Amino acid sequence: MTNVSDLFVDDNLSDRRKTIADICAESPMFDFVARKVNKRYLEDLQGHWLADFATQSYLGFDFDPDVVQAAIEGTKKYGVVVAWCRLVATVNPFQEVEKEIAALVGTEACSIFASTTLLNHGVIPALAGKDGVIFLEKAAHATMYEGAKIARDSGATLVNFQQNDLDSLEVLLKKHNSARKKLILTDGVFSMTGDYADLPSLDRLAKKYNALVFVDDAHGFGVVGENPSPDNPYGHRGNGLINYYGLDYDNMVYVGCFSKAYGSYGSFICCSQKLRDFLLSQATPHDLGGAGPASAMSATMAGLKINKERGESLRQRINTLTQRAIKGLKDLGYKVENHTGFPIISVWLGKSEHIIEISKILYQNHILLTLSPYPMVKKGDEALRITVTASNTEAEIDQLIEAFSELKEFLNKRGYDFKVSENIFLKDMSA
Ligand SMILES: Cc1ncc(COP(=O)(O)O)c(C=O)c1O
Repeated sequence: MTNVSDLFVDDNLSDRRKTIADICAESPMFDFVARKVNKRYLEDLQGHWLADFATQSYLGFDFDPDVVQAAIEGTKKYGVVVAWCRLVATVNPFQEVEKEIAALVGTEACSIFASTTLLNHGVIPALAGKDGVIFLEKAAHATMYEGAKIARDSGATLVNFQQNDLDSLEVLLKKHNSARKKLILTDGVFSMTGDYADLPSLDRLAKKYNALVFVDDAHGFGVVGENPSPDNPYGHRGNGLINYYGLDYDNMVYVGCFSKAYGSYGSFICCSQKLRDFLLSQATPHDLGGAGPASAMSATMAGLKINKERGESLRQRINTLTQRAIKGLKDLGYKVENHTGFPIISVWLGKSEHIIEISKILYQNHILLTLSPYPMVKKGDEALRITVTASNTEAEIDQLIEAFSELKEFLNKRGYDFKVSENIFLKDMSA
């Protein structure tokens, strides 16, 4: 007997998403399950070990003994989960973290949500209201796009502009100049390439047209920060991309999260006290859902303390390991997408055709990374995404390079062309 839900699956599995379903079914690198984790060492259900280059726990706090202990104490004190919605009640670790984050980022206030996805789904419609105009950067994270579509359902207008096409954005801002609320949505650090949004230009346009820039810096928070220099390319304190550029918050709100650099859970928006108070009653996740576990806040608090004590040396380590990985990959002749030195490294493939075989070779060579086939990225941008953390080891980076060296043999046989002298890894379009 068939289950009636089969009909929904058969009808809704579009050709577009089918690539991902096929990879899920056949690749060891989607829907991977670890039975043992120790920092970046993973062991799967078959006892096969892998070095983890898929996690985004950039500062490596997830296994720091002080952070782990804080999470245990937080659980003992406040229970496993805070089962109120935020509008009704909270426990003080949430408030303490909000105060610390506002001070670190440099805003009057901060409001914590259970995840960045929920924040984007709730805050963007609350800001846009029924008559706002949303200017969405096309490369912005899908959760912002979803938040914008929810806002559009309530009457807001949604328009798109290409990443870095500021002339088109200005044309759109001029066209909608009479709207009282103009909201520009952008990633801070872009999640596929590690590129940094051109916030100075967005800020200049926002000031000219009285718009508000919503910066989702889920990846940047904890890694990039104020006063970058050649010796400290990520800057200091990990207080985010707005501080990296030395901008003010007059026309910006800043979103970050704890589930990446801080190895914990939750997200936040840094803003004025007035906006924070407004969101408490108007952003639906504060009203309709739970706030997440208090232990995540206790862990974040411990992470914030470590950030003050040795954040700079952890960021130096991320940079050193990232440079080692980039050099090793480039020396093999791969085309490496990384213009900023941020610990997201995309090795370009340009098609999804061999991605299952590629993932099997990497798995056999003890590497877990993030596959990025179409439609997760645009056609032609298909890539293997590597993320590097402070708790990776030099030996793991060497393992990564060894795995890509093995992979090269396979790719050569499939018509991929390596031009080592130019550091370019070209795809043969006829293959
Ligand atoms: C820019 C950006 N926004 C939002 C999210 C979703 O974050 P969360 O896991 O906190 O929901 C991600 C996750 O990768 C992201 O990169």
